[in-house]
Amino acid sequence: MSSISTSRDLGVSDFRFHCIGCGDLGDHASQDFRCSQCGDLLEITYPRWKDVKPDAAKLKAVWRERKVSAKATDQSGVWRFRDLLPALKREEDAITLREGNTPLYELPLCSRITGVPRLFAKHQGLNPTGSFKDTGMTVAASFARLAGFRWVACASTGNTSASMAAYAARGGMRSLVLVPEGKISWSKLSQALDYGAVTCQLKTDFDGCLRLLQQLVLQAPVYQLNSINPFRLEGQKTLALELLEQFDWDPPDHIIVPGGNLGNSSAIGKALVEMHHLGLIPRIPKLSVIQAEGANALFRTLREASGKRLISVVAETRATAIRIGNPASWKKAAHVLEATSGVCEQVSEIEIAHAKAEIGAEGIGCEPASAVTLAGLKKLVKQGFVKAHESVVLVLTGNLLKDPNFTIDFHRGDLFKGTRDESAASELNALRHPPVVLDATLDAVIGTLEQAEKS
Ligand code: F0G
Repeated sequence: MSSISTSRDLGVSDFRFHCIGCGDLGDHASQDFRCSQCGDLLEITYPRWKDVKPDAAKLKAVWRERKVSAKATDQSGVWRFRDLLPALKREEDAITLREGNTPLYELPLCSRITGVPRLFAKHQGLNPTGSFKDTGMTVAASFARLAGFRWVACASTGNTSASMAAYAARGGMRSLVLVPEGKISWSKLSQALDYGAVTCQLKTDFDGCLRLLQQLVLQAPVYQLNSINPFRLEGQKTLALELLEQFDWDPPDHIIVPGGNLGNSSAIGKALVEMHHLGLIPRIPKLSVIQAEGANALFRTLREASGKRLISVVAETRATAIRIGNPASWKKAAHVLEATSGVCEQVSEIEIAHAKAEIGAEGIGCEPASAVTLAGLKKLVKQGFVKAHESVVLVLTGNLLKDPNFTIDFHRGDLFKGTRDESAASELNALRHPPVVLDATLDAVIGTLEQAEKS
């Protein structure tokens, strides 16, 4: 297949900025990506889809054909779907590390544990920098460079900064990272350093970092790459496109995703609604968000304020990626939960550690924030919201290697030492595989093998 359609041929991805608060439509966005009229967040819309719907069958065929193309944009699991993304003038303008293209795995052990036979994991931790952030970053970084910015910046719990630093370096831009001191994993920090970011460890939490960044972008010529940036969410939509393609466009019943700043759930939900509108899927899967109990702003906002106003919290969880108390995209997330008939649940630190070990035992592994999905599924099954005959996809957002300290502490039995969960943590003992130190003798190794065989 040599003649591959470009988004221009299909002519559908001319976009505008739409305010989610007052509905204002505009061609430009200010540097803080907030509405100039009411200050609410912006999203990207494609006004032409109202009148000229792209042909769903033709789109599916074009996306399939691009899989065998050698072009960089076709090899990217994001730009392969460029017909439903903001149009770049020239495809060479895309800064790509061939992101996306992540596998969908069956989870036989977790199926048995949850009683849900058709259970899958979409492993976004297998992206180039090890998290789902790359799918959004390729789009937003490309538009940053097109807009002529030399500097890009973000506040982060670690993964955004790793991804941003990589894409900035690939695109010849400088990057500024603001992270909460002592509250992100060394693996993530080391990525930002290696990719050349100017890295500031601030004596505050993530929410404090984000507040500062929002002020900074109004005073300095730096381009904001947090998920407030609507280009990020457009790229992250492709998770849903790729997933549905993997299901041959027959939607699963449920998609379950972790919630932190709530950009990812908003992006996936937006994609599902758009796909349904465009006739790519016959029905919309239920999208549910799981939060850590210690960082449960959306959970509380929906329970205690019916989703009308944000209830922020002071966040605390060992799942540091989602240690966020004042999520920027809460309104967008509340909207997509309603549009897809999904729910929000919260899970405890013990439940997160338990679920992470169970996913690890599948030979897949993920970081703690991703494991909330399995922990949440168990609750949703108990509540009857997820039925045994339904199909479920867990979105694993980050790689196991992103937070090795958590895993090592867990297996050594140190994770809950000195916390109020210390005695309850004994229920996790059967899942622990601590390393053993032995004399370097055959007898010692054989003895260990025999011991393990019995257990
Ligand atoms: N899972 C992982 C591994 C994450 O890194 C994040 C967010 C989330 C889930 C939550 O996604 O914020 O879109 O709801 N990490 C951000 C960061 C905040 O800075 O890396 P969300």
